[in-house]
This record gives sequence, C-alpha cells and structure tokens, in this order.
Amino acid sequence: MNILMVCLGNICRSPMAEGVMRHKIKEYDLNANVDSCGTADYHISQSPDKRGIQTLLKYGIDISQHRGQQFKVADFDTFDLIFAMDTKNYSDIVAKARSQEDIKKVKLLLDETHHDLQKIVPDPYYGSLVDFEETYLLIDNACEQLAKRLSL
Ligand code: 4NP
Repeated sequence: MNILMVCLGNICRSPMAEGVMRHKIKEYDLNANVDSCGTADYHISQSPDKRGIQTLLKYGIDISQHRGQQFKVADFDTFDLIFAMDTKNYSDIVAKARSQEDIKKVKLLLDETHHDLQKIVPDPYYGSLVDFEETYLLIDNACEQLAKRLSL
C-alpha cells in the first residue's frame, strides 16, 4: 500500500501528515509506505517549516529530512491512496486525473474522522505554533483512524 499526503506547498501540512502516518505504520506494523508532496512548485527541495518540525519533535517524530516536491501525474501510478488536506488540493489533484481509476484514489484526509463536518486541515502557514499544534491534532486523529482501518 503506497500512500501520498498532499497539500499546497509541501512544507507544512503534508510533511506533518507523512511523518505522523509513518509513525502509525510502524506502530501498527502495516505493510505500507508514505510520501508527501504539494500541488504547487513554490517550495521544491526546501525543508519543512521549522514550526512543523518543532511540533512533531514533541511527539518523537522527526520530519527534518523531508524535501519539498510537487505532485505529478505519474503519482497516480505510484500511489494507491492520495490524501488531500483541503478541498482546493483535492480539486487540483483531480484536475490532473486521467481516468475514473485515478479519481477514485483521491480522498480528503479528514474523511477518516470528520464524516459530516468540515473536512479541511487549515493551512497553518500564516499562523502561530498553536495553529501547528491544531494541525497536528487533526492529522494525528485521521492517521490513527486510517492506520486502524488498514490493519483490519
Ligand atoms: P502547506 O502550507 O500547503 O501546508 O505546505 C503552505 C506553505 C506555503 C505556502 C502556502 C501554503 N505559500 O504560499 O508559500
């Protein structure tokens, strides 16, 4: 199972989601890989946002080695599940799909937890450390549910 976490810049939300999900994959002993990317090209080759690195280190997760990369059409071939952080990311990914098969792989990460509620992981980029903590909590909950579901 190959899982891709996608946001806009690939420096805040999706590298956090990748790090948290990798932690869950180990914890649940899942046969899965996880990577992350952004729909935009703004931060290719850049390290994750320091505030995201700092937030995850509190939970024993080190994402400092990730480098920004941009979503590409070939990712539909590499990955089985593609999780968008918000609805704009979702529609930008779906706009690149070549088939219904491709579209079926794309989900919102918060579909895992927020069944009837707002399903957006807010972008903490212009926020503070408190916003990064909130981002972590939303992502952690969703990844926990995903890991449980995949372990069944
Ligand atoms: P991310 O946050 O999509 O969670 O990585 C952003 C980071 C940078 C920008 C936008 C969102 N930016 O416009 O530079």
